[in-house]
This record gives sequence, C-alpha cells and structure tokens, in this order.
Amino acid sequence: MAWQGLIHKYGERMKLTPGANPVTLHEGNTPLIPAPDLAKWIGHGIDLHLKYEGMNPTGSFKDRGMTTAITESLARGSKAVICASTGNTSASAAAYAARAGMTCFVLVPAGKVALGKIAGTLAYGARVLSIDGSFDTALNLVRKISEDGDVDLVNSVNPARIEGQQTAAWEIVEQLGQVPDWLSLPVGNAGNITAYWKGFCSKPCLSPCSAACLQCPIGTIKPRLLGTQAAGAAPLVLGHPVDHPETKATAIRIGNPARWDEAIAALSESGGHILAALDEEIFAAYSAVARTEGVFCEPSSAASVAGLKKALDRGEIEAAGQTVVCVLTGNGLKDPDSATESSKGLIPTEATFDALRRSILENL
Ligand code: F0G
Repeated sequence: MAWQGLIHKYGERMKLTPGANPVTLHEGNTPLIPAPDLAKWIGHGIDLHLKYEGMNPTGSFKDRGMTTAITESLARGSKAVICASTGNTSASAAAYAARAGMTCFVLVPAGKVALGKIAGTLAYGARVLSIDGSFDTALNLVRKISEDGDVDLVNSVNPARIEGQQTAAWEIVEQLGQVPDWLSLPVGNAGNITAYWKGFCSKPCLSPCSAACLQCPIGTIKPRLLGTQAAGAAPLVLGHPVDHPETKATAIRIGNPARWDEAIAALSESGGHILAALDEEIFAAYSAVARTEGVFCEPSSAASVAGLKKALDRGEIEAAGQTVVCVLTGNGLKDPDSATESSKGLIPTEATFDALRRSILENL
C-alpha cells in the first residue's frame, strides 16, 4: 500500500487521542543512505549511514512531530497554533496548520533565519512575527501567551511533538535491520535528542523489521548518542545557559534548550557524549557531505558529521568497525546563501565554443 504518513504507520505505538483525524503530508519514510566516501573523509574505520530528514515534505525532521502536534491540536478544537522558531519548526507548523485549516503564528529572531525557511513559512500563509531577540526570548514569549488558551503551542515542549519525532528511531532500525552503535545528531532546543532516545527505549514492534531483524531489538539494544552543538551556542557542553548564542548554523543558535534535563539524561543513560564544533568545522562537514555523497543538507545538520569527526579525531569516542548513523535534520535548499557562500561560485564563460572548451579544460 502507498505510504500514508507516520500516524497511519505508527499511530498504535504513539500516545495520541484515539480516533483523531490525522493531519498528514505523508511525512517520514526518509532515506537512510550508506555513506562510504564520507566515512573515508571522517576516517577511523566507521560504517556510516545518513538519515536524510531533509526529504520530509517541508524539508526537515520537524514534520514528524508536526503531524502529531497539529492532529492533537485540531482534535482539541483549537483554531490557531503558535511557535518560536529558527525557521524549520515555523515552516512545518505553517504547512500542517494550512492543511488543518488553522491559523499559524510564528515568532522568529529578525535577520537570523535562512531565506528558504522564511519563504516556505510565508507561502503556507502563516503570520510571521519577527522579533529583535533570540530564539530563547521568542520561546519564552510564546510559552507565556499560549497559557491564555487562545493559541496552542507547537514547539517541542508540546509532548505530541516528541511522540511523532521518535518514529525516526524506529525507521532507522527497520532500514538498517539493527540498532546502530552510535546515533549522531545536532542539538539545539534538544527536542530531537529527547525524541530519539524515547524511540530507542520504547517497546519493540510486533513484527520483525526486516529479514536481518528476526526479533525487534528496540528497547533491548540501544545506541550511544552523540550530540553536537555549535561552539558559540553550546549551553549543554558548558553546563550553563548562553545569553547571546551566536553561530552561522542558525537553526541551532539556541542558548537555553527547553529539553535540557531530558537531553542530559539521554546522553548519560546511553553512555553517549556531547561536544561543541566550531563554525569552520561545521561548514567543512557541510561541504564534505554534499561533495562526497551528493547529499545536500543545511549547515546545522552537518554539525552531526562535524561533531562525529572531531570526537573521533580527539579520541573522545571510539567507533572503529561500528555502525554510525548521522541525522541530517534539514534540506540544504532551505539555505541558498550558505550554499553559494561556501562554494567557488559561478564560472563566467563567453558563449563561444572556444571559450567553453577553455573553461572545461581549466576546471577539469
Ligand atoms: N537541525 C535543524 C535543521 C533544526 O532546524 C533544528 C532545530 C535542530 C537541528 C535542533 O533540533 O532543537 O530538537 O535540538 N530547529 C528548531 C526550529 C529550533 O525552530 O526550527 P532540536
């Protein structure tokens, strides 16, 4: 049967209002791509796979949690939703709200959201309120205003978001036929790391995932989690909130994660590790992912690759011969400015045969 989205596939395994009518864009079922050449770039003999969440309908993993959050909100009879966002949550909330016939308000930090994210959010018809303040300030404001009950909060402090996002853990096990040894992901507001850990700790599925997986290993075998924050926005690494977070990886420009305690618990229960990557390291990984494997993710997503390389290079973790999944949380097309700025750019070429031949020979 054709793919019909996450609630259709996993609804029985999630805590959702029984009988609620799913609001879906047929999200999920994203590719898990083997990445042998990127593994060579990283070194240390790992077996690397990329969970390409940029293939979700609005181009990020947020759609997994938004199908459930908006479904629940609609089932409660809400007419409007609100979120703070560095861009991906807002695009996703706007799309699912449009599908549900609800009004969507989003608060974004002025000048700090990638172009494609704003474009999508506006196209889906959301009211985009731009504030002179960080994501953290925006989140505090929307948390307070949603207490009045007129608008439903759909940031990942909403438990329905975590219910939906945990499905990525289940998909990875199905696609890989095993639980990976390490799961590496970028950490911002810490909803996603919380959701993955919930997924990996849940009850096993009833049927075998694949030929290789005769008995579902979920809940018995667990991966180690590797979290990466941007160095200028690394509260979990530093152990205290960061008042003025700064990084070119704007999706994870967050100084006080809402799911702080859950993230720390997940890291420690999994025997995992968290570290900070410099913007240069994140952007080097960003280019490497696209050029070695032909997979275009946004800069923040590449933090999962940058952090993995750094932790291995420094001997902070050991993973030789082990299976590692890097989660590429968002699509590179969302951030055209980063893509053009970190490439050589266009090669002006005169429209003649000779000039074309010269350009080709010079650039072979
Ligand atoms: N990667 C991308 C592409 C993101 O957009 C985000 C978060 C993260 C990683 C971090 O995930 O917050 O669950 O730890 N983006 C949020 C937003 C904050 O508003 O779109 P997290």
